[in-house]
Amino acid sequence: MNTQELINTARMLVAGDKGLLAMDESTPTCDKRFAMLGIPQTLEARRAYREMIITTPGLAESISGLILYDETIRQKKKDGTTFIKIIIDAGIIPGIKVDTGAKDMAGHPGEKITEGLDGLRSRLTEYSQMGARFAKWRAVIALGEGLPSQGCIEANAQSLARYAALCQEAGLVPIVEPEVLMDGEHTLGRCNEVTEEVLRTVFNQLYTQRVMLEGMILKPNMVLPGLACPKQETVDEVADATVRCLLRSVPAAIPGIAFLSGGQTSELASARLNAMNFRFKSRLPWALSFSFARAIQQPALEIWHGDEKNVFAAQKALYHRASCNRAARRGEYTTAIEMV
Ligand code: 13P
Repeated sequence: MNTQELINTARMLVAGDKGLLAMDESTPTCDKRFAMLGIPQTLEARRAYREMIITTPGLAESISGLILYDETIRQKKKDGTTFIKIIIDAGIIPGIKVDTGAKDMAGHPGEKITEGLDGLRSRLTEYSQMGARFAKWRAVIALGEGLPSQGCIEANAQSLARYAALCQEAGLVPIVEPEVLMDGEHTLGRCNEVTEEVLRTVFNQLYTQRVMLEGMILKPNMVLPGLACPKQETVDEVADATVRCLLRSVPAAIPGIAFLSGGQTSELASARLNAMNFRFKSRLPWALSFSFARAIQQPALEIWHGDEKNVFAAQKALYHRASCNRAARRGEYTTAIEMV
C-alpha cells in the first residue's frame, strides 16, 4: 500500500471546492430511471447517456471525481475513445462502484445487507489497472417500526470496513457510504440518533479493520426528517443538526465528507450543503463536499430524454447543477444562481 498516494488522492477528491458526481447506477437502477421517463432501457441508451455526462464541457471546473459502474468503465464513446481516457484527459479522477448491491438480510425482515466482498481483491486489481483510483460501497439502513436492528448496523459496518481495507491494499481510496434512508415518517431527531449510531459503529469497524483514515472519504446522508414526516425542518436547522451529528461521530483525521443526495430535490441538496459551509466551514476539521447522483443528474436526464438532439441542453443543465454545488462548497450558493 502506498500510503502517501492514497492520502494525496483522497485530498484531491475534495480539493478546490469540487465534489464527486456519482454516475454508478447499476443497470436495474438506471433502467428504472429511464423507464419512468419512457427512455428505452438498452445498453446503447445507457452508453449514450453516460457519454453525454462525461463529455460535458467544463465539468472538471466543479467535479473532481466520477464514480462509474462496471458496465460504464468498459465503454467507449461513439468515436472509439474509451470513457476512462476521456475522463482522465478532462482532469477528472475515475472511480468505480464495487459493491454488488443491497440484498435482503436473513433473519432481518425489512433490512438489507450489501454484498460484494467475495472476489473483491481481484476485481480491485483489475479496476486499478484500468485506471480507477478510488472506489465506492454503499450500505443502506432503513428506519421504521423496530428498525434498524443492531445486527443490520453491525454487519453492514463490518462489510464497509473490510471493503475499505481491501481498497487501500489495492491503492484505491475507499468512499465509505453508510446511507440512512429518507423513506418513512420518522423525525429529524430519529434520523440524527440513528445516523450517529451508524457512524460510530462504522468508525469502530474502520479502526478494527486497520483502515487508514487519512486515505478515505466518508459519504453519509444528511440528517433529515423522513420524506413523509409532517414536520420538515428549515435548511438552517438541517445544517445545524447534520454538522452537530458529524462532529460527534467522525474523526478529524479524515480529509473529507461528501454527502449523498438520497432523494432530496436538487435545489434543497445544494441549499443544505451551502448552509453547512456558510455557517461552519472555518470551524470544521474536514471538507464538507458532495457526491450526488440524482441531485446532479436528474434535471439533465429529464432534458436528454434519450434523444441526441437534446445533448447540448442536457449538458448545460448538468454543468449548472455541478456549478451550484461547487458554490455550495464555498457557502456562496443563492437562489439567484438558479436563475442564471
Ligand atoms: P444519490 O445522490 O442519488 O443519493 O446517489 C448517491 C449514490 O451514489 C448512491 O450510492
